[in-house]
Formats: sequence, C-alpha cells, structure tokens
Amino acid sequence: MKKTWWKESVIYQIYPRSFADSNGDGIGDLNGITSKLDYLKNLGIDVIWLSPVYKSPNDDNGYDISDYEAIMDEFGTMEDFDRMLAEAHARGIKIVMDLVVNHTSDEHKWFLESRSSKDNPKRDYYFWREGKDGREPNNWGSWFSGSAWKYDETTDMYYLHLFSPKQPDLNWDNPVVRKEVFDMMTRWCEKGIDGFRMDVISLISKPAGLPDAPLMNELYGDCGCTANGPHVHEYLQEMNREVLSKYDIMTVGETACVTLEEAKKYANSEGTELNMVFQFEHVGLDGDAEFKWSTRKMPLVPLKENLTKWQKGLDGVAWNSLYFCNHDQPRVINRLGDPSDELREVSAKCIATCLHMMQGTPYVYQGEELGMVNYPFRTVKDFNDLESINAYYELTEKMGWDPKEIFPKIANKSRDNARTPMQWDDSANAGFTTGTPWLAVNPNYVKINAADQVIREDSVFNYYKKLIELRHTYDIIVYGRYELQMAEDPDLYVYTRELDGHKLLVVCNFSDHEREFMPDEEFREGKVLIRNLDNNNILDGILEPYEAYVIYAE
Ligand code: GLC
Ligand code: CA
Repeated sequence: MKKTWWKESVIYQIYPRSFADSNGDGIGDLNGITSKLDYLKNLGIDVIWLSPVYKSPNDDNGYDISDYEAIMDEFGTMEDFDRMLAEAHARGIKIVMDLVVNHTSDEHKWFLESRSSKDNPKRDYYFWREGKDGREPNNWGSWFSGSAWKYDETTDMYYLHLFSPKQPDLNWDNPVVRKEVFDMMTRWCEKGIDGFRMDVISLISKPAGLPDAPLMNELYGDCGCTANGPHVHEYLQEMNREVLSKYDIMTVGETACVTLEEAKKYANSEGTELNMVFQFEHVGLDGDAEFKWSTRKMPLVPLKENLTKWQKGLDGVAWNSLYFCNHDQPRVINRLGDPSDELREVSAKCIATCLHMMQGTPYVYQGEELGMVNYPFRTVKDFNDLESINAYYELTEKMGWDPKEIFPKIANKSRDNARTPMQWDDSANAGFTTGTPWLAVNPNYVKINAADQVIREDSVFNYYKKLIELRHTYDIIVYGRYELQMAEDPDLYVYTRELDGHKLLVVCNFSDHEREFMPDEEFREGKVLIRNLDNNNILDGILEPYEAYVIYAE
C-alpha cells in the first residue's frame, strides 16, 4: 500500500462559530481559533478541517456561501485568515477548507444575476424549470423538509434547492460553472491551504431530465436519487486534472448515499478523484424506519458488520475516513456510550479506542476529545438549526405526529447537539465568550471542560492525545489489515490488525456490565499500548463496563 501523509494524519474539525470567541460578540471567530492553536498542537493533531468561514448570510451557518473569496464578517478578515494559516503552519498543522459547491447562497452574485431574467448569461448556472400543472416541476423533497423547488416571481419559474431555499443548486452540467469553481479552488490552493472537504459532493450531477423520485414519505420524493449521478466521477476527474493534482493537498468528499462500490471510485488508490470519502451508513443505524429522528441506541452487531464491510472493502483499493462525530451528528457518547457521571469518561475512551485503531484517517470533532455530550433541549424554541426546526413543524403540522412523541426524537438527533459552544473552562459561558453565546452552552461545562482535562492525567483529552501519538508511532495502526472477531457478540467489539507479521488486538466492551474475555495465547505476553482502566488485570479474563485495551504482539 502506498504511504502518504494524509493516511498517517489525524484531522480535527473546527466549527468556527462555536469554537472560541475573541471579541465578545458571542460568535466564535478566526482570531479565536488562532488563540487555541497551542491547545491543538498539544493534542497532537496534524490537520484542521475548518467548517465554512466564507461570506454568508448564515441561513445554514455558512453552508450557504455568498462570496467564496471573502471571510464572513462575524469571523474576521482575510488578514485574520492569513495569520491563522501562517500560525498553524508554524506549528506544523495543516488547514483544510470546506468546499461547498453543490449550491451557493441565493445572495451570491451568480444567483442574483441568474434570477434576474431568462436570458441572463448566468441563467444556466442554476436549475430553472417551469411549473407542472400549477405545481413544482417534480416531486423532489428537500433534505431540510418541504419541496426542493422554489417559485420565483421575477421570471415565473422555479429553481432547484436540495437544501434550504437560500441554497440554490449549481448546475454542474454547465462547463462554465465548473471552470468558475475550479478557478476559485486554484486561488485558494495558491494561497497555501492544504486541502478541501467537499460538501455533499456526491449530489452535484443530477439525473438527466430531473425525473420524479420514489416517495420518501407521503408528501415528497427522495432526493437521495440525485446522489452518485451520471457524471459525478467525470466531473471529479476533471477537477482532479485541473486543480487537485497540481498541489500536495488532501481531499475528502462528503458523499451522502455513497455505497462501497461508489466509494471505490471516489477514493480510488490511483488518485484520479479524491483521497477519501465520508460514508453515512454507520451513523444511520440508530435512525427510525422512516427518518433519522429517534431515541434508539446504536445497535452494536450491525455497527460491527457495517464498519467491517468498509474496513475490508476498501483495504488496498481506496481509503477510509474514520468518524462518529461532526457538526451534523449528535454527540457519540449519547449514541453508543453512557453519558452518566459514572461511565461518561470510560465509555468515551472505549468509543475512541474502537475508532482510532481502525484503518483509515481519523477525524476528531471539537469537544469530542473532552467527552462532550448532547444538550438537554426542552422545547423547539431551544433549537437554532433549520433542519431540526423545519422537521419539527413538517412532522407535527403537515404529517400529524404528536409533538410529545416527536420532540424527544428530534432533540436526541438534532445537529445543535454538536454545535453548542466548546467548553474551555469552568468560568461563565465555559470560557467560550465574554458576551452572550449565539447558542446556549451546555450547563455541564462546570464538570466537562478543557482546563480540567488538559492537566488531569486520566482525562478523555489525554487519552485522545495518547491514541494520536500511537498512530504516529505504529505503522500497523495506519496500514495494518483489519479482521473482526466474535461478529455476533452483542457487547464486545473485538478486532485484530496485522502488518508484516506483527499483530494488534483491540478489545472494547460496549456494555455497562462485566464480561468474560481472555485474549488469545499470542497476545498474552504482548505489550499493552493503551487501556482505559489502569488497575485491572487483563489476564484475569474479566472486562469491566466499557473497558477497552489494545495489545501489540511483535
Ligand atoms: C452538508 C453539511 C451540512 C449542510 C449541508 C448543506 O451535509 O455538512 O452541515 O447543512 O451539507 O450544505
Ligand atoms: Ca466573535
């Protein structure tokens, strides 16, 4: 297998709005990030993925971009950006930008022109269609509820928006659009950034003729039908030729609805498209039958089956990204661990062990390294995220769900769980801001915060630090072949890794009770690389609740 720096890196995702506020306006910003680079250096990460910092009216917190080459007012200036990039590089940390080019903001100048008249030269930058029998051009539903089409009076036509009406979809079939995007990417690369995370990049090639889709509920068709469309690989290969191949950068595609077979193309080892993709199957396992909203726990046996499919399926032919958390996912301890005071830290470490010992590039989402947990939402008024708010009203008002039944499900999966401010210390507002935070701080910051964890040896922070160090030390953790053990066991996630005759055993008890487990002979004399309960005797054959350890046999 070919060795590359991005295979050996650990990525840290920053959601700038919620990371650190330097000027007291309640909103995180670039100078805030710069002030925390030493914290990240201490954690040991190699790369920062920055959620969007471009100019935006913030309908979807920066994922609706009105100018790709200017910084959002609340986040600072281009000088602040340049300083942050230089300071990161001075510490050996790379910066990967979020590239949101499936759509722009409806306030982007391209869209303002496109909308102005039917014969505007930029008309074809977006999808404009006539209505059909007084209704939308097709039945597609938006990922954020409602129809994926919005009627625009100016020219008496509809435009397509797979996300919010303020996020019109760019028409990638238009070569001029592709050139605009590639030129913009080139200018960022010339500035010295280190790569791109590509937002919903699997959706850029729409099926020819925009046909109706199978119904996803009684109201709308499933716009997942636009994923992995007819020309998506062709367009990414073109992007690779025109831009990516000219720089030593890393790329990761956010590929909604990606299958293993499609991932082998997007992230192929020949390097003709992207370096790796985010798949979504494992984070969908605790959803309800019809949608993601639910209060279920993630079931362990299907999780093992799924992650194993990806581990083995991409081995040697493509490359995995490893993640449980990001700005769109609830906190993983609530899904897979135990948020109680007694088990929070040990379960956070167990989950981290399981993920960080796999083959692929691990992603740590801000606060994950502290074991941050979901927010105790009480009413729909506590939400900021348009996905949660829209879903609540669509499900209750249009589809007749009982609010009492649906609210806890939305609260449990809301993206706002990931977006509450970073918990730096136990001072007011967790040290995130001296002003009023844009989204409420989780009241548990008094006991869960970075200041405590950086100095406390047995903290979740120091455990992540050690996991990252191990990845930087042992090739087997990066490149070794993965093999699942005990596939049907409902409590234990046990797997091995193998490289050049060396072996690694990873044991995680994902239950809140004791379990018997004895490592095989070949590991009993091995070196324990990391463990989340120091005082136990591994060879007594008893695993404590959420106990995890890793043994290396030379
Ligand atoms: C991606 C982003 C998400 C955003 C959506 C639309 O899924 O991760 O936050 O809302 O795309 O841009
Ligand atoms: Ca600020």
